[in-house]
Amino acid sequence: MPVGRTGLVAAPQVFESVVDAIGHTPLVRLNRVTAAGGAAVYAKLESTNPGGSVKDRIALSMVRAAEASGELRPGGTIVEGTSGNTGIGLALVAAGLGYRTVVVVPDKTSREKIAILRALGAEVRVTPGGRPTHHPEHVRNLAARIAAETPGGWLAGQYDNPANPEAHYRTTGPEIWKQTGGRVTHFVAGIGTGGTVSGTGRYLSEVSEGRVQVIGADPEHSVYGGGDGRAYYIEAVGHFRHPETVEDEWPQSYDPEVLSRIERVGDAEAFAVIARLAREEGLLVGGSAGVSVAAALRVAAELSPDDVVVVIVPDSGRSYLSKYFDEDWVGRLGFDVGAPAAETVGAESWSGTVGFVPSTATVAEALEILGDAAALPVVLARPGSTEVVVAEILGAAVLSTLTAAPQGDLVTAHLDPPLPVVGIRETRTAAAARLADDPRPVLLADNGVITAILDRSMEEGVEWAFSRSA
Ligand SMILES: Cc1ncc(COP(=O)(O)O)c(C=O)c1O
Repeated sequence: MPVGRTGLVAAPQVFESVVDAIGHTPLVRLNRVTAAGGAAVYAKLESTNPGGSVKDRIALSMVRAAEASGELRPGGTIVEGTSGNTGIGLALVAAGLGYRTVVVVPDKTSREKIAILRALGAEVRVTPGGRPTHHPEHVRNLAARIAAETPGGWLAGQYDNPANPEAHYRTTGPEIWKQTGGRVTHFVAGIGTGGTVSGTGRYLSEVSEGRVQVIGADPEHSVYGGGDGRAYYIEAVGHFRHPETVEDEWPQSYDPEVLSRIERVGDAEAFAVIARLAREEGLLVGGSAGVSVAAALRVAAELSPDDVVVVIVPDSGRSYLSKYFDEDWVGRLGFDVGAPAAETVGAESWSGTVGFVPSTATVAEALEILGDAAALPVVLARPGSTEVVVAEILGAAVLSTLTAAPQGDLVTAHLDPPLPVVGIRETRTAAAARLADDPRPVLLADNGVITAILDRSMEEGVEWAFSRSA
C-alpha cells in the first residue's frame, strides 16, 4: 500500500502526485468480439494512465534514470522525437517534476495529440514525416539536434534507451502476472519502439519459466514482420522504411528474441476491429490497439478456454476522433464506412492501370510519363513496386506547371498540391460534396491503394467517367 508524504497510509489507488498514479491499469475481458470456444482475452487498458497512454510508464522511467545518471539536471529541458504519446508522458512528468519539454512530431500525428502536448506546456515542433533516417529533418535527427543545441537539454531517446523496456519489465509485466494470478498463457502487444513487447514479454517469459508465449502485432507493411516498409495508416506501431534509407537500423529497445511469433495485420482489419470494440464492447481505443487486438483475437481463436490471452491497449480512441473514427477520413481512403453498397462510389465501372510519376524523375521524364494527361500523382519512388499507396503520394505533376519549368530539375521541385482522392466504399454524396468545386482528375482508392485515375463530369449528382491512365 503506498505511503503518502503526509505520513498517512494511503488507501489503494490514492496517490500523492501524478507520477505515482502512472501504471496500475485494469484488465478488462472482451466478451463479444471473441470467437466462441477460444481462449479468454483480457485487454490491459493503458489508456487509463494519467497521460492517456502506455508511454507514461517509460517517460517516468527514462526521466528517473537520467536524473540518477546526472544527464538530466534541475531546470533542464527534456527533448524527444515521438509520434505523440511519449511526448505527452514526458510533458506531464516534466510538469510534475519541474522540467521544460520540447517534442518533435511527424506531420501525420493527430491534431488531438498535438493539442494535448501544447496544453501540457510542451513546445511542439512538427517535421515532415516519411523522411529517410539520415535526413536532417527526420524526427529523431531533429530532436537530437535540438537537445544538443539547448543548454541543459537531454534527449530521452525512447528507441534506444534501456529505461524503456526496463519500465515494462519492472511494472507492466509484474502487474499482468499478479492480475491474472499467474494464469496468463499468451501476451500480445504491438511493436513500435519494441519497449512494451520486449520488456513485458521478457518478464512474463522469465516468471513463467518459458510458459507464456509472447506475440508481436505488426502492421502488414512494416518491416518487423517481413513487409517492405511501405507507408500504412495506423500510427505509432510498426517500422516504415523509406526507400532511400541505406542502413535500416531497428531500435535497441526492441528485442526480437523475446517473441515467439509476429502476427501481421492490415489497416482494413485494424479499422474494423476498433469499430467493433467501440460498438460491441464499449471500448473506444486507438488504431494501434486495432492491430494488437486483431492479432490477439486470431491467437485466441486457436486456443482452448483454459488459455488466457492478455493484450495491450496502448491508448484511447479519443486521440483519433479526426482520423480512424472520422467517416470522411476513413472513407476517402477507400476503407469501409458501413455505407450500403448501392450508395457507394463503387469500383465496378472503373478499370485500367494507374499512372504515376516516381519522385526521382526529372521534369522532362515526368512530362514524358504524363503524355497528354492533365495531371498524375507524384509518388515516393519504391523500386519494384507498382502499387500506389495514398500515404506515399507527395503531390501532383501538372502538365501546365511542368511545361514552364526547367526540364532538368527534379519533378519534386515543381509539385502541385495532391490530387483529390475518392474511396470506393464512401457514399457518392460524401464524395460529391467534397469535390463539387474541384475540376482536377480524381484518384480512386481501395483500402488505401490507388486503383484508377478519373476525369469527372458532374451532371445530375455524380457521374464518374474513366478517362486515361498512363
Ligand atoms: C499508441 C501507441 N501504440 C503502440 C505503441 C508501441 O509501443 P512500443 O513503442 O512500446 O513498442 C506506441 C508507441 O509510441 C503508441 O504510441
